[in-house]
Amino acid sequence: MRQPLVAGNWKMNGTRDGAQRLVQDILQGLKAGHKAEVLVCPPFVHLADAARALKGGEVLLGAQDLCAEDNGAYTGEVSGAMLKEFDCRYVIVGHSERRSLYGEGDAQVARKFMAAQKAGLTPILCVGETLAERDAGETPQVVTRQLEAILDTAGIAAFARAVVAYEPVWAIGTGRTAKSGQAQEVHALIRGLLKVRDVKISDAVRILYGGSVKASNAVELFAMPDIDGGLVGGASLDAREFLAICAAA
Ligand code: PGA
Repeated sequence: MRQPLVAGNWKMNGTRDGAQRLVQDILQGLKAGHKAEVLVCPPFVHLADAARALKGGEVLLGAQDLCAEDNGAYTGEVSGAMLKEFDCRYVIVGHSERRSLYGEGDAQVARKFMAAQKAGLTPILCVGETLAERDAGETPQVVTRQLEAILDTAGIAAFARAVVAYEPVWAIGTGRTAKSGQAQEVHALIRGLLKVRDVKISDAVRILYGGSVKASNAVELFAMPDIDGGLVGGASLDAREFLAICAAA
């Protein structure tokens, strides 16, 4: 059985006070006996405060990105080892905003994926097609290319310590969610690609859906056989909404 994971990707939002309040509200609102693993990924500068507040508790901490290098002259970057020092367990790699706004390609995403694991972090690898690609019927090709780039570099064994997130770009921050069946189709494709290489690993790996996940659509999405939780952007900034999504998983 795969334990569901609900991850909040706060992106570049919130003040220091607001971030602390959000962490407290999530901690206080989390129901005892919840099934899902719950994760928050605040901006780098809020990690220290969040780590202090979350220490020893049930909500885990992650980061939104990391540098592919270990250390050195990389102005503005943050390494996996640094994140580990602040109790991060997970790190998002290859988010579509990193790919489209900062020019990260498959090769760089693969290096970040491996840097995360080298530092003892579990990468959450994001894949997903744009609207133009979906309309052109290229979703399977795009997702396959993005996933195989990492598989070919890091190897299937690396996916025993990784999470995959399918995030159709056209559904991110748009309020337009993929239909549960549409998402399931791509999740099954992803699991199938892993299965060709290793059945046991493909059965165990968690595949999250991301793209306008809300309390109102989470139950239906999470009911799909290959959807193992969500990567939640906008709705993770509202504690009540985020907690309702956690309860749905
Ligand atoms: P959204 O973002 O929930 O605001 O669509 C999801 C994500 O980008 O991870």
